Amino acid sequence: MQILIANDKHIHYAQEICDTIEESAKQRGTGIAKRTPEYITTKIQNGNAVIAIEGKKFAGFCYIETWGHGKFVANSGLIVHPDFRGQGLATEIKKKVFQHSREKFPEAKIFGITTGLAVMKINYDLGYEPVTFSELTDDPSFWNGCKTCRNYDILMRNEGKMCLCTGMLYDPIEKQKNNKAQLKHNNNSKVFKRLKSIKESLHLPKDKLDKIFKK
Ligand SMILES: CC(C)(COP(=O)(O)OP(=O)(O)OC[C@H]1O[C@@H](n2cnc3c(N)ncnc32)[C@H](O)[C@@H]1OP(=O)(O)O)[C@@H](O)C(=O)NCCC(=O)NCCS
Repeated sequence: MQILIANDKHIHYAQEICDTIEESAKQRGTGIAKRTPEYITTKIQNGNAVIAIEGKKFAGFCYIETWGHGKFVANSGLIVHPDFRGQGLATEIKKKVFQHSREKFPEAKIFGITTGLAVMKINYDLGYEPVTFSELTDDPSFWNGCKTCRNYDILMRNEGKMCLCTGMLYDPIEKQKNNKAQLKHNNNSKVFKRLKSIKESLHLPKDKLDKIFKK
């Protein structure tokens, strides 16, 4: 199985990608934003898509969209052909498209909206967190994409604040802060351990030390 950044050689898969997305949405009975082959082709031409192929057979796809003048990036249109499901392929495609998004748009917040449990799980493992829609892009062209979804009336009824999809967000700045805090915490633990062993070597009473360092 090859999982790669799609290029001009893959444009002929655009129709099959759209058909597979539409067919799967019908089967799931859930709403989904419709994609045209032209739209998929543009994504491929701009180097903003990841494709999986087994030999010459189409296996999976996902693409990057930018919103709010590049402040937000979405990894959308994830699809795995039914013949290749349940083997971890979606996880690998999402990893690749996430990595590509981070390299190409390092400052951007990465988000997605989904009703799919599998996608929520994959996103969570990548470091996304569930958020309310108000934390996602307010770019109207993103939300216009929902117009072709069968649940659009629900979104409208809730003034765009909630719908059946769950919003998930990866915020690189928040992640960096959390990582620093975690590092500080780990370092503090190391410092405390070292301090304790120094004090022990100075033969301070053990019960007093345990109290100080809350054994
Ligand atoms: C959803 C989809 C992309 C999953 O593809 P896949 O290659 O079978 O997924 P993976 O094998 O990588 O599974 C990822 C995780 O999700 C779980 N999962 C997969 N399909 C699931 C489902 N239908 N319901 C609940 N969990 C599911 C897997 O068990 C796995 O979890 P684990 O890591 O704990 O084992 C694929 O079924 C598909 O294309 N469906 C139609 C389109 C779609 O729903 N796209 C998402 C739109 S937001």
